[in-house]
Amino acid sequence: MDKLKIKGGAPLQGQIQISGAKNSALPAMAATLLTAEEVTLENLPMVNDIITTRRLLRELGSEVEFPSNSSARLKTRNVISHEAPYELVKTMRASVLVLGPLLARSGRARVSMPGGCAIGARPIDLHIKGFEKLGASVATEYGYVEATAKRLKGANIVFEKITVTGTENLMMAATLAEGTTTLGNAALEPEVADLAQLLNKMGAKISGAGTSTITIEGVDTLHGAKHSIIPDRIEAGTFLAAGAMAGGDLELVSCDPGHLTSVISKFREAGVNIEEGKGRVRVRGGSPLRSADVVTHEYPGFATDMQAQYMALMTQANGISLITESIFENRFIHASELVRMGANIRIDGSRAVVAGKSRLTGATVIASDLRASASLVLAALVAKGVTTVDRIYHLDRGYEKLEEKLRSVGAHIDRVK
Ligand code: EPZ
Repeated sequence: MDKLKIKGGAPLQGQIQISGAKNSALPAMAATLLTAEEVTLENLPMVNDIITTRRLLRELGSEVEFPSNSSARLKTRNVISHEAPYELVKTMRASVLVLGPLLARSGRARVSMPGGCAIGARPIDLHIKGFEKLGASVATEYGYVEATAKRLKGANIVFEKITVTGTENLMMAATLAEGTTTLGNAALEPEVADLAQLLNKMGAKISGAGTSTITIEGVDTLHGAKHSIIPDRIEAGTFLAAGAMAGGDLELVSCDPGHLTSVISKFREAGVNIEEGKGRVRVRGGSPLRSADVVTHEYPGFATDMQAQYMALMTQANGISLITESIFENRFIHASELVRMGANIRIDGSRAVVAGKSRLTGATVIASDLRASASLVLAALVAKGVTTVDRIYHLDRGYEKLEEKLRSVGAHIDRVK
């Protein structure tokens, strides 16, 4: 299993290009199942979750080609299988995003129940309730969700809780339903609006994406399209934390500061020097950091996918900061690994108390999930000595060429095969 070896202490100097958003690319690839015509996706991050999605789509009957290392051509002339098997879903929960398109396109879908993951139980009950509202009959047995419907019928659906992939799954299904669907208390994440843009290019009639009420007027068929995926705001946020912690002068390009408003304002509150421009953000590290409390929220609040990185940043801030995780019930696994590096963190349920500034030292640490692994890399960039991060397959799922990008701006980081 690959590991990363990082020698801390080097300031970061230079420019990093931000990749396309994983959490926009995954639903976009699933959406191509809705048409028999070809869809081209550009600015795709070549991360392992994209490779897993290609495998899944091919099993369902899609032709998927990567003509370059940041684009894909996808075509599903015929759906040859309706099943997203356990073997694939267990490696990537987002596989559940094929449920809506399969059901809408061919009236049947059988998807392995994702089950729990490191950060929480993560049920899909709200997805299922939504499909039932659209007239599907849904059974959950033998570890699978099996849904069937002659043709879905438009309905008014109000989510009891904001769910990103739930909103995306129902929005995709409703594009081919008979009549109009409204999704209330929908997710506001930029990835949802990006998916709606792709679907509208494919001939869908969606309005209100990016607001809490989305309206979808069903159509009979969808056609091919070309779409460029939005930049990855979580990757950009991760590099902002790296620059703030390691010192130096780092510029991020091909990113959208508008998607990072709450992250940037919280970082500024903590004393980070950030400059925004069109499609770019600049962070000049080295100024003393001060503690600042944060509560994770749905967009446009502070993203839970930035919580672990923020915890690493707060280990280098003077004072006590309180981090409250309000989205997932078990998303502090990284804390104990940071403590092994010398951080002072105490967990109390959904709250973490971080006392800083801590002098971190290199250690062998284990990554437990995608964002947790990013926080360990950040801590290693400022730790004295060498840190070995194990199980970085978690990192490879969602960060494209992380160590090459960091090395290109001066970090001492190597992958050990
Ligand atoms: C998406 O997951 C992202 N994944 C996650 O990013 C992100 O952490 C999360 O949204 C929140 O922002 C993708 O987009 C592929 P939710 P999702 O449904 O859609 C509960 C990363 O690091 N819930 O919005 O699965 C759920 O348990 C990943 O890139 C139900 O109770 O998250 C959670 O507490 C990790 N029933 C809350 O809602 C449901 O049917 C929000 O989950 C659905 C969700």
